Amino acid sequence: MNATLALISETDPALNTALQALTQALDLPLLDRESALKKHTNISNYDFLLGWLNTNENVLPPRLALFSKKTGPVFIDFLGGKKNHRRQFGGGKGQPLARAVGASAEHPPKLIDATAGMGGDAFVFATLGCDVLMIERSPVIAALLQDALNRAKTELKLEHEGQTTRFDAEERTFLEETIEHMSLVNADAADFLNNEKPDADVIYLDPMYPEKKKKAATNKEMTALQGLVGPDMDSSNLLEAALQVAKKRVVVKRPTKAEPIQLADGRLPSANIQSPNTRYDLYTLSRL
Ligand SMILES: C[S@@+](CC[C@H](N)C(=O)[O-])C[C@H]1O[C@@H](n2cnc3c(N)ncnc32)[C@H](O)[C@@H]1O
Repeated sequence: MNATLALISETDPALNTALQALTQALDLPLLDRESALKKHTNISNYDFLLGWLNTNENVLPPRLALFSKKTGPVFIDFLGGKKNHRRQFGGGKGQPLARAVGASAEHPPKLIDATAGMGGDAFVFATLGCDVLMIERSPVIAALLQDALNRAKTELKLEHEGQTTRFDAEERTFLEETIEHMSLVNADAADFLNNEKPDADVIYLDPMYPEKKKKAATNKEMTALQGLVGPDMDSSNLLEAALQVAKKRVVVKRPTKAEPIQLADGRLPSANIQSPNTRYDLYTLSRL
């Protein structure tokens, strides 16, 4: 994918220091905030801009967000918005995603989400009590995920200290435990699995499927992902690596009518679980 990207500078020295570190880590230009926001020449030269989005409530920390002409600001928020809604109303252990990875088992499996993206599925696994290592190869998406993890911890600390009152004590404890279950690595997952051989009961894959002509992405996160990382053309390689490392199961999320991922030895999924728009292909290695 050849999307062009730049960071927007800040006047706040602490935020700017963080951006300068990102500029070096991601090897991206740092644009002057004033000209970027006034839509002077700079902004139109880039498909995406990455910068801090200040929350209206002064006490909450700013969010690292991705701005583009096609979407509003895209950031990851584990404690609010859609992820919180999915936590409360997503169906818990009975939902197809939870059954697919065996999160309904008495002892929640140790999971690797090898295609972390915006962290939505990983967060569901963590709410169900699974330890989940997220692997994401796009350094920009990994930066959004890392910011979301850091911010969630800061916001829960503010809550603990009584500086905010967004959750009751039970909900706060639950969210603290959930975030503790989550960790992140910025790497190509096939390389990471092959080289590090991490310990995992279940490895979950949700590669970007080539978008159908004329079919728009379903939400702004997916629009941003499609523009930034594009389709994942090397999913077979990743599935091969996952099958070598997982102890119990590999699960691949596919659109309902898509073929299973092709493997060199012709291996097919041992079972699948259907939900309205999605099929989870299960490769069983041993009992969960
Ligand atoms: C469809 S998105 C995943 C969405 C995610 N399940 C969620 O709930 O937000 C696919 C993501 O996997 C990442 N990805 C694809 N192949 C990868 C690989 N081999 N290693 C690490 N990340 C990969 C892409 O960069 C993209 O961010």
